[in-house]
Amino acid sequence: MNYTEAKTKMTAIGQDHILRYYDELSKTQQDNLLRQIEETDFSVLKRIDCGVSDERGEFSPLEAMQLDEINARRQELNRVGTEAIKAGKTAALLLAGGMGTRLGSDNPKGMYDIGITKPVYIFERIVSNLLDVVKQTDTWIRLFIMTSEKNNDATVKFFKEHDYFGYKEDRVVFFKQDMAPACDFNGKLYMDAKDHISTSPNGNAGWYSSMVRAGLDKILTDEGIEWINIFAVDNVLQRICDPCFIGATILADVAVGSKVVRKAAPDEKVGVMCLEDGRPSIVEYYELSEDMMNAKDKNGDPAYNYGVILNYLFRTDELSKVTDDKMPMHVVKKKIPYIDENGALIKPSEPNGFKFEQLVLDMIHQLSSCLPYEVIRDKEFAPIKNATGVDSVESARELLKKNNVAL
Ligand code: UTP
Repeated sequence: MNYTEAKTKMTAIGQDHILRYYDELSKTQQDNLLRQIEETDFSVLKRIDCGVSDERGEFSPLEAMQLDEINARRQELNRVGTEAIKAGKTAALLLAGGMGTRLGSDNPKGMYDIGITKPVYIFERIVSNLLDVVKQTDTWIRLFIMTSEKNNDATVKFFKEHDYFGYKEDRVVFFKQDMAPACDFNGKLYMDAKDHISTSPNGNAGWYSSMVRAGLDKILTDEGIEWINIFAVDNVLQRICDPCFIGATILADVAVGSKVVRKAAPDEKVGVMCLEDGRPSIVEYYELSEDMMNAKDKNGDPAYNYGVILNYLFRTDELSKVTDDKMPMHVVKKKIPYIDENGALIKPSEPNGFKFEQLVLDMIHQLSSCLPYEVIRDKEFAPIKNATGVDSVESARELLKKNNVAL
């Protein structure tokens, strides 16, 4: 794209201030800016006013596979899952493109050291959990790691420096997720350098389209990968490519399996799995009516009782049905670094604009069927979102100790 084309493109959407430093830039910087203008999807800006519609469909309960059933069928589920892993039909995908702003470290979240007597990095815990299954099944599972433009180099370097924490290097593939532009409250794009528009990762639903854009769907096809286990970087206890979960999802013949935990109380503030207009969905705690909160399943347990933990097993041949356009765009108020009139970088202490994200939980609603699969919270859910307090380094350490993980 040349300058004239860029100017036309940006003027058409009322954003030509992005080119105001163009004449001051070196040739390389000019090229950088033109490339960014060419590659960025600015259509998200149109969704500021639309935001996420509050309108929801009709909710009904979605039965989960509960622990009793899992325990009774464990051998069968394990066998089916193990067979799929051994046949190379499953892959793991670590979502590590987030900014981890709540944790407050400048490094990628996975580099955070949660050890007490020795270094124990979040990435190390995650890889160690996956290695359990590698050993158990004697199979090197393909591991995709999604990073972002902001944290890719640091993440790749960290893995190299630590010898992939014992994982087989040639089974790991890094890719960068797409970025979305960030703007002020009036919809004007911010710049964080004279040759760069402020951007942020486009949300964790970006994993599939970013993977396709990187040409990695070819690996899925070439290697015959039928199932892909997507999981968050911050749950240091989660089981990844858990054979039993894989077996249960395969046997249930659904488009996606979702690990869920039983709610601690009927009014606990977690999103719960359900059906919405007959399709799998997640209802937020504040959307639960009194009736829904009191509804019971066939065992007399609450009918809306299982919260999601961001660990999903997607059937790969269903993924082409998920389209970004149909998914809601979450327009989130955030602190966005920007340059002022003098070109000085300002890091605001309060939210000063919008970022645009699509969320993996909205992908679920695009699919026809889902199996919620119960796991024991204290054994599989230790999220690290904050430095202290709820879902923090402290709470995760306690849970790791309970599970005999040396820290
Ligand atoms: P969070 O919702 O906790 O977001 O992500 P975050 O960016 O990591 O943290 P905060 O909100 O800034 O504190 C849940 C999972 O989704 C990944 C994260 O890396 C984490 O594993 N994620 C999130 C992405 O991979 N890309 C994104 O654009 C957003």
